[in-house]
Amino acid sequence: MHPLDYFLGLMSIDMGIDLGTANTLVYVVGEGIALNEPTVVAVKPGTNHVLLNGHAVGVNAKEMLEKAPANISVIRPLKDGVIADFDITEAMLRHFILKVHKRKWGIRPRIIIAIPSGITTVEKRAVVNSAERAGAREVYLISEPKAAAIGVGLPVGEPVASMIVDIGGGTTEVAVISLGDIFTHISLRTGGDKIDEALVQYIKRTYNLDIGYRTAERIKIQIGSAFPLKEELTMEIRGRDSIAGLPRATTIGSEEVREALQGPILAILDAVKSTLENTGAELSSDLIETGMVMVGGGSQIRGFDRLISEETGLPVKVADDPMTAVVRGTGHLLENIEMYKDVLRDEELQS
Ligand SMILES: Nc1ncnc2c1ncn2[C@@H]1O[C@H](COP(=O)(O)OP(=O)(O)OP(=O)(O)O)[C@@H](O)[C@H]1O
Ligand SMILES: [Mg+2]
Repeated sequence: MHPLDYFLGLMSIDMGIDLGTANTLVYVVGEGIALNEPTVVAVKPGTNHVLLNGHAVGVNAKEMLEKAPANISVIRPLKDGVIADFDITEAMLRHFILKVHKRKWGIRPRIIIAIPSGITTVEKRAVVNSAERAGAREVYLISEPKAAAIGVGLPVGEPVASMIVDIGGGTTEVAVISLGDIFTHISLRTGGDKIDEALVQYIKRTYNLDIGYRTAERIKIQIGSAFPLKEELTMEIRGRDSIAGLPRATTIGSEEVREALQGPILAILDAVKSTLENTGAELSSDLIETGMVMVGGGSQIRGFDRLISEETGLPVKVADDPMTAVVRGTGHLLENIEMYKDVLRDEELQS
């Protein structure tokens, strides 16, 4: 049987998962977003035994990041948008699936997972295997930008250009979609993590101060920007003096942080411009009106939309609730499967 017919015949996939480098979200059909937690697991070193009777996953594990003693390994099992640690990913997915699945259905759930558009067949296989071994009965895949476009309500099935810029923790995905297909896309292994890293290095270089990645993330969220602010901000930061080795605090301003973030921000801007260059003339002309929608945590960096808009001359909008767009897209797709028949492609559905 044709896989698409089979899929539509079943018509009842139970959950959609956005397996992200930074955050994992689960949408349960008929219920909505049932889980939204950091993609972090604390295990006994050298094993995949999740600590605290299996409770050191997600929020609880992120609390331990960079603060754990030697007898605890706190692991982020995805890197740059793809699975870096297969066993730990599986342990995490098992925990999350059990948490939302409860004992409601008695049988193992069918799952659709959003994956970066740039991943290889081997990487796709790893996602499917992890989910199957974590307890899924069947696993289907959909590309993240397509799910995001559906999640924010763009007319993905129509013959008009819809453009998505998804800035996640590990990857940035830029895609132009028309008639249910991705016309052109760029998947960049640069996102929030690289931005945090740039900040850690800048502060070490400029202030001889070592800060952790979590502090860098807080600075980025609190005062980070991509475009000059009406009122520039300051913030007190704490770390360890890299020469004296002692704790020290200092104050940093948003102009400096902007300078520190410039490398990865410009790399993302370049990906947007290259995608536009690769877009055909007819679709390109649509974009003058429709512009692009930004999603993912990184889209919330102050003035990022303004920077992209000034540099491309196109309208740019940050989606409402940008960090849930992908998982809401999987949910909307599953709850309106008939409507999205033409948007689904066989190769995405095959597990
Ligand atoms: N308000 C904010 N301002 C700037 N960055 C933010 C903000 N909130 C979250 N982020 C960043 O967004 C990133 C996480 O975004 P998101 O949850 O969309 O990524 P992900 O889907 O897990 O990753 P990927 O899609 O790359 O696999 C992190 O790097 C985080 O620091
Ligand atoms: Mg993502």
